[in-house]
Amino acid sequence: MHEASLQSVRERLQAAASVCVLTGAGMSAESGIPTFRDALAGLWSRFDPAALASEEGFRADPQLVWDWYAQRRDAVHRAEPNAGHRALAAFVAARAGGVTVITQNVDDLHQRAGCRDTIRLHGDILQDRWLEACPRTVACHARSAVPGRPPRCADCGNLVRPGVVWFGEMLPVHAIDAAEAAARRCEVMLVVGTSGAVWPAAGLAGSARAAGAFVVIVNPHASEIDAQAHAVLRSTAAVALPALLGTPTR
Ligand code: OAD
Repeated sequence: MHEASLQSVRERLQAAASVCVLTGAGMSAESGIPTFRDALAGLWSRFDPAALASEEGFRADPQLVWDWYAQRRDAVHRAEPNAGHRALAAFVAARAGGVTVITQNVDDLHQRAGCRDTIRLHGDILQDRWLEACPRTVACHARSAVPGRPPRCADCGNLVRPGVVWFGEMLPVHAIDAAEAAARRCEVMLVVGTSGAVWPAAGLAGSARAAGAFVVIVNPHASEIDAQAHAVLRSTAAVALPALLGTPTR
């Protein structure tokens, strides 16, 4: 692992036939969405993940958890994709294939920037899910909810919860399978704005490296997976991605 020159990483990315990009909360930090583990501004420095991001926490105090996610949903609605999201979307569009974007983020900023096929490992904060599997033989088709904090299914009475993956829960199988496959077949893996503290997402850089990929990390601070990287750029998403992925100016 070494501090790389931006130009050499840029050349690798531009030359690679297949690129995999894994993003974390740092990707959206410059859009004003807080990260989880940054020492001062990170959500987990102020809030208890066991109380707010687990099924046990939700069952213990559904209103508290619902209200916390409602605030975060509002913040996502107010946020706009930053220059990093836009540069990545332009890179994906220009390549017309050969780039897979995988995100741990539950916001929709990659999608709004134009990366429609992003693999979402940790769900979608703007979606609702039913807490229990529907007890009826024919599941609630309408999925209409009686308003409340949280709402309840109008049909089966189920509590509604946010569509994110909580601690202790499995990732969507199709998402992690697709992410692993993309990591194993790419020539370059670009990892942006993740602490590498949460598995199995944190293992994707190692999978890519083991399969022969050149691994690049963009993060202004040290991460737990820096040792997996061939090159580390101590920069931010909105600064580094336009420089790495943008079309060359001649
Ligand atoms: P973390 O909060 O753990 O890490 C964010 C990383 O982004 C840190 O390493 C920062 O140094 C870096 N960073 C901060 N600002 C940045 C910027 N402007 N540009 C680039 N990098 C920057 O977030 P994740 O690694 O995404 O789970 O956390 C993984 C999971 O833990 C999240 O998906 C979330 C959380 O619990 C769910 O929501 C299910």
